[in-house]
Amino acid sequence: MITQNTIQQILGRIDIVEVIGGFVKLKKRGTNYLGLCPFHNEKTPSFTVSPSKEIYKCFGCGRSGNTISFLMEHEKYSYVESLKWLANKYGVEVEETFTSDEERKQLQETESLYIINSFAQQFFTRMLFETEEGRDIGLSYLKERGFREDIIKKFQLGYSPEQKDAFSKEALAKQFSKVVLVKTGLTVIRNEQPVDNYRGRIIFPVHNHSGKVLGFGARIIKSNDKAPKYINTPENEIYIKSKILYGSYFARQAIDKADECLLVEGYTDVISLHQAGIENVVASGGTSLTQDQLRLIKKYTKNLTIIYDGDAAGVKAALRGLDMALEEGLNVKLVLIPDNEDPDSYVNKAGAPGFIRFIQENKKDFILFQLQVALKDAGNDPNKKSEVVNQIAETISRINKAEDFTKQQDYIKQCSEVLKIDESGMHALVNKFIRNRISTLEKKLPFEEAKSIEENAQKAAASGYEDNTFTLLFKDELQEREIARVLLEHGVKKWNEHQLIAEYILSELMEENLFDNANVLKLINTYRKLLEDNITTIDKSYFIYHSDTTLSSLAVSLLNFPYEESERWRREYNQKAGFQDKLFEQDYEDFMRTVTTEKDSSLINFLKTEEDRTGEEINSALNYLKLKKIKRLLIQNQSDLENAQTAEESEVLQKTHLHLKQLEQELSKRSGIVIIR
Ligand code: UTP
Ligand code: MN
Repeated sequence: MITQNTIQQILGRIDIVEVIGGFVKLKKRGTNYLGLCPFHNEKTPSFTVSPSKEIYKCFGCGRSGNTISFLMEHEKYSYVESLKWLANKYGVEVEETFTSDEERKQLQETESLYIINSFAQQFFTRMLFETEEGRDIGLSYLKERGFREDIIKKFQLGYSPEQKDAFSKEALAKQFSKVVLVKTGLTVIRNEQPVDNYRGRIIFPVHNHSGKVLGFGARIIKSNDKAPKYINTPENEIYIKSKILYGSYFARQAIDKADECLLVEGYTDVISLHQAGIENVVASGGTSLTQDQLRLIKKYTKNLTIIYDGDAAGVKAALRGLDMALEEGLNVKLVLIPDNEDPDSYVNKAGAPGFIRFIQENKKDFILFQLQVALKDAGNDPNKKSEVVNQIAETISRINKAEDFTKQQDYIKQCSEVLKIDESGMHALVNKFIRNRISTLEKKLPFEEAKSIEENAQKAAASGYEDNTFTLLFKDELQEREIARVLLEHGVKKWNEHQLIAEYILSELMEENLFDNANVLKLINTYRKLLEDNITTIDKSYFIYHSDTTLSSLAVSLLNFPYEESERWRREYNQKAGFQDKLFEQDYEDFMRTVTTEKDSSLINFLKTEEDRTGEEINSALNYLKLKKIKRLLIQNQSDLENAQTAEESEVLQKTHLHLKQLEQELSKRSGIVIIR
């Protein structure tokens, strides 16, 4: 773990404009900075960075966050990687603590695997270019296959000499540990002697997404029936095959730009396509896709195009992993390369434009393709055909994310047409599979969940609040968030002589938990704990940069840009009042004198600075929560009343009811809330 001290030092130096400005061209506008959003395509800038709030927000696509979440989103770094990147940028030395010796050992071992791999990569590249054997055998083979030298260098290809221990000898002389060398798969022990695992092979380093070498693929040069074509790094702490996509380091920017990821099988496919200028391509390494690999792809794009050999094995390999891709919400397309070619040989034959044209013209929708293959297999056998219907319904049922609802409907329509069956029958079948899965998983889908909340809310609205607390669900959410926002914005300012605003709010909320939103509650409790520990220097960035991402993203989402609303107001007001010049650039005082009508008072209220309104905001939000509590007490009282055993009991409860009603009315009046019934 990175120490708190280091984190504080890093956070203290972050300049959000400088960091984001390194990736996005920003222009100053007012107190904020504006640029073209790096997360979606746009022609007019709506990506806003606020240096004072230390957050960014795109008013086009809605993405928002802090410096660290920017690095996590844009560079696909983890939280810790982002911190380390910033530490490096600002020259902060990173102190790490280890909870156990075991952990320290683990980390050191991981680190040494990377170091050895980097050393090995340099060794193999040197062998390829600077030895006679390397040039004669390795480099000439690569050139014969058509690989250019700049591409060979870019992908850091290498050559391992025929000699039995060329690499191991040099590595051991450099004091690398024998145990770790064996772990990397570069060295094996034969007759108790350390020898090289790859001999007389072309070396393909496998990089992680930030360019570090995780392991190698070593290709034989002369074909040989006895030896395997490729020898790959064995699984170890850093080489985890199911999480690796070959080429991702070189492809990530192109994938982002094209909003599409091409997936091929082999190392040479990736490199050849790259050489042809098609850079948004990664390889799965000849096995079917894993969930982790799909998630990696999804970090960059939702559009996956699989390009495999057209032979039976290729088709089969492509079809595996389909269901998982659908569950991940990816749009999957398939292209099969004909005539025993693979993407590498095909692009060499057809050239880049020919290859791109072929891909465009032969892209098939994955589900429809699967349907065609299955139908062809089934022939005229009615049993087999009904199996196909079931199978495709099950596949479609996996498109279950709320956002993909229309996609699912489209597939139902198209597949029913191909199968020549009734669309509503297909619907029912798909729904059956969805229901089955829900009940077997016993886990509600977000879509179903949202639906049931909405239904409950509607029911509640129809029957009056006294029967149900759901009525206020959505409004409550806003009020709860408002309290949290005020805490973040103004918490450490003075409420009065003796109290900070945070202290006032928390004392008002002391007795009972009134929050339904778990994240807001977490934030409130964290804040309370800080105050109890007498930490009164808490500022926004404490929460914005909190390592608990539920807290940091809540904080970011709460701290809206002042611009957002004022721009809307400005537009509306300009229209209504016929103001031509820009309100906010005009002197505030001046403006206030010009506003006279009744209608304008809401505008005046709006124009009050945040400071002026804080008190009102706090009390209104607090009142709301108190009101909610009273409503709950009323409901409880009501049910007690129904179950009252004696006349006395009933009378007391009646009085309580009246008292609560009175309180309710007062509070509502004060906060201007209209009570529902
Ligand atoms: P291919 O046999 O299609 O190899 O295997 P390739 O990449 O096209 O190589 P060339 O063009 O013949 O030189 C596809 C991928 O399957 C994995 C490798 O990742 C390879 O790139 N593979 C293949 C192995 O891991 N081991 C093998 O023995 C063969
Ligand atoms: Mn090939």
